[in-house]
Amino acid sequence: MNDIVYDTLLGAAIKAPSGHNSQPWLFSLSADGSGILVQPDYSRRLPVLDPHDRELYISIGCAVENMCVAATGMGLSGVVRMARDGGVLVSFNVNGDVAPSELIAAIERRHTNRNEYDGTEIPQQVADLLVACDATLYARGSAQFCAVRDSIVEADNVIYGDSRSRGELKGWIRHNRKETESMMDGLGYDVLGIPGGVPVWVSRMATSMALKAQVQSRSDVRKFMSSPVVAAFAAPDDVEGWVQCGRRLQHFLLTAAMHGVACAFMCQPCEVDGIAASLTSQLGLPGRVQVLLRIGHAAPPPAYSRRRPLASFKK
Ligand SMILES: Cc1cc2nc3c(=O)[nH]c(=O)nc-3n(C[C@H](O)[C@H](O)[C@H](O)COP(=O)(O)O)c2cc1C
Repeated sequence: MNDIVYDTLLGAAIKAPSGHNSQPWLFSLSADGSGILVQPDYSRRLPVLDPHDRELYISIGCAVENMCVAATGMGLSGVVRMARDGGVLVSFNVNGDVAPSELIAAIERRHTNRNEYDGTEIPQQVADLLVACDATLYARGSAQFCAVRDSIVEADNVIYGDSRSRGELKGWIRHNRKETESMMDGLGYDVLGIPGGVPVWVSRMATSMALKAQVQSRSDVRKFMSSPVVAAFAAPDDVEGWVQCGRRLQHFLLTAAMHGVACAFMCQPCEVDGIAASLTSQLGLPGRVQVLLRIGHAAPPPAYSRRRPLASFKK
C-alpha cells in the first residue's frame, strides 16, 4: 500500500468516535504491506469508567469500520480479523466488484450532537435502514424507553457520585481554548459550552460544580426526553464482540449522518456492570447492552471535537 492510500485510510479511521475523545488507537502497516494493524493505545485507556477496555475496543471497531468504508472509494475491500496481541488486522484487497460506499461522505460529516433535540420523528424509511445496522430502536413513550431513562438516572448517581470517575472525566476536559488547541483530544471547552477565554482555574471550578449527580441526571433526562428514539446495541462481552459492536455502531452513525439524523451517546448505564446487566434483561437483549444512543433532529453542535495529528497515531 502506498503512502497516499495509507494516510487516506488512517485519516478516515481517526474521525471515529471514542470514549471521552481519548483516541485510543495506534496504526502500523502489516508485515506484507497490504494491511493495517490497529492496536490499542493503553496509555489512553479510561481505567475507572472502562476498567475492562470495553469502550476502548468499541472505539477501535468504529475506527476499523471507517477504514473499510473509506477503502471502497479506492476499489479496495477490507477483511477484518483479530490479531494475536489484542490488535485488529485489516487486510485490503483490490476488488473490481467493489463500488464506492455511499457512506464515505458521512465519515467527515458525523459528529456527536449533545444538543436538545426538536422532538420530530425519524421517518420510517430511515428507521428501517438504522435497524438494518443491527440496532434495536425504542420509541419515546414505550416501556423500554422509560426503562433506559430510569437506568440513566441510576447510573448518573453511581458515576457522578464517585470521586474517581469525576476525577477521570475532569482529566479529559480541556478547560479553555489554549488547553483544547494544544492537546487536540478530550472534551474541548467549546464542545462542552465553556467560554474559551477564561483562566483554567475558573473553568475547573465551574465544571466541578456541574459534575454533580443531580445536575447531570436532570440535564441528561431533559435531553433524553427530547429525543424521539433510543437505539441499543447489544453484543457478546469479549474483545471480538466489542470490536464487532463498534463496527455496527459506526455503520449506524454514518447512516444516520447521511440522512441528517443527530445522535448522542447515553452510555452511562452500560458503564456500570450491575445496571447494564439489569437493563439487558429488562430489554430482553441478546449478549450485553454495550452502547445506547439517543437519536433525532437538532441544530448542529456548537463545535466539533478535535483530533491529534495523523503522525501521532503511527507506530
Ligand atoms: C464507546 C463510546 C462511548 C461513549 N459514551 C459517551 C457518553 O456516555 N456520553 C457522551 O456524551 N459521549 C460519549 N461518547 C462520545 C465521545 O465523547 C465522542 O465520540 C468524542 O468526544 C469525539 O467526538 P465526535 O463523536 O463528535 O467525533 C462515547 C463514544 C464511544 C465510542
